[in-house]
Amino acid sequence: MSRKKALITGITGQDGSYLSEYLLKRGYEVHGIVRRAAIEDPANRMSRIGHLLGEIHIHSGQIENYASIYQVMTTVRPDECYHLAAQSFVYESFEDAFSTLNVNIFGTLNTLTAVRELAPGCRFYFAGTSEMFGKVSESPQDESTPFHPRSPYGISKVAGFHMAQNFREVYGVFAVSGILFNHESPRRGYEFVTRKISSHAAKIKLGLADELVLGNLDARRDWGHSREYVRMMHAMLNQDSPEDFVIATGETHTVREFCELAFAELGLDWEKYVRVDERFMRPSEVELLVGDASKAREKLGWLSETTFRGLVSEMVRSDYELLKQSLA
Ligand code: NAP
Ligand code: GDD
Repeated sequence: MSRKKALITGITGQDGSYLSEYLLKRGYEVHGIVRRAAIEDPANRMSRIGHLLGEIHIHSGQIENYASIYQVMTTVRPDECYHLAAQSFVYESFEDAFSTLNVNIFGTLNTLTAVRELAPGCRFYFAGTSEMFGKVSESPQDESTPFHPRSPYGISKVAGFHMAQNFREVYGVFAVSGILFNHESPRRGYEFVTRKISSHAAKIKLGLADELVLGNLDARRDWGHSREYVRMMHAMLNQDSPEDFVIATGETHTVREFCELAFAELGLDWEKYVRVDERFMRPSEVELLVGDASKAREKLGWLSETTFRGLVSEMVRSDYELLKQSLA
């Protein structure tokens, strides 16, 4: 029997790298769309998938450009398409709403259209997000909670969610959205708050920095581990019928708590090093996220295994070791 083919947009990102590993282990032929800039600079731009380059197929392409996606979709004709590529940093979406909306909305429309026209039967995963709940009307949030996005990023994802739903209803595409709450790992981008904290705690411990400047310490997030969340993307595409699912741990913690644990992991008192600056506050904030993943637990067998404390510890330890090695 021939191997199932998966096409991943955003394969160079945190989730793309863990998803590739997971699908390879399950016997998939894995293809990824990568921007030209990353192909020219693999050491930096493809660092998360460097160890997989002998096993996966990389295609140069631009998701904002239908002709480019058309080309890749025609070549690969995947069984499953995981659309993860996006401008994913909420703060940046206020700085450059135009690019965020362009990449996130047209990237999704182009990929969905290419699936519908060129790979009938291909199942499509859309990377939805708890940011779509935004100014939450209830807690915890589940699949029936209304959307009230608070940023251009959130708005772009609500548009993508509705597009996936519309292609499902109108064209019969097996399109699903995972509504994933924040998920982190040692592969998280450095600008996101968890990695910013873990990397700065490590730098401070090693004498390479003397402070960490943050924004809103009171924001609450439901933080899980990326490696576990990507498995649910695959599970959603392998259900009998297409449905959307919330994936979350069900616990919420403040940024302050993350700081406290991260610095304590290295024997430091966070209050001596963390400074708050307006610069890192957002024009409109999502104050509280906490998910109810009962549906996924029941239908997909979802179980969050990594504890909050375990996640913080893994990220801090990893950054500390990385920095120590680079110094040596
Ligand atoms: P990430 O690490 O920021 O990765 C984003 C990926 O998208 C990278 O491969 C990036 O490529 C690619 N990308 C960005 N702009 C692009 C463009 N203009 N054209 C083509 N590719 C582009 O994000 P992640 O944490 O893995 O998240 C994956 C997806 O899940 C995203 O859609 C994100 O919005 C969504 N999501 C994430 C979370 C979370 O907590 N992590 C939660 C809910 C939903 P380069 O490497 O070339 O920049
Ligand atoms: N990045 C950042 N930097 N965030 C800070 C800082 C800081 O210096 N100080 C406080 N925060 C607060 C933010 O205001 C926000 O409330 C919280 O920390 C988390 O910020 P991020 O780590 O940037 O993540 P996010 O929650 O905005 O978005 C992430 O999760 C979404 C799912 O809910 C991203 O991965 C999105 O792509 C994803 O959809």
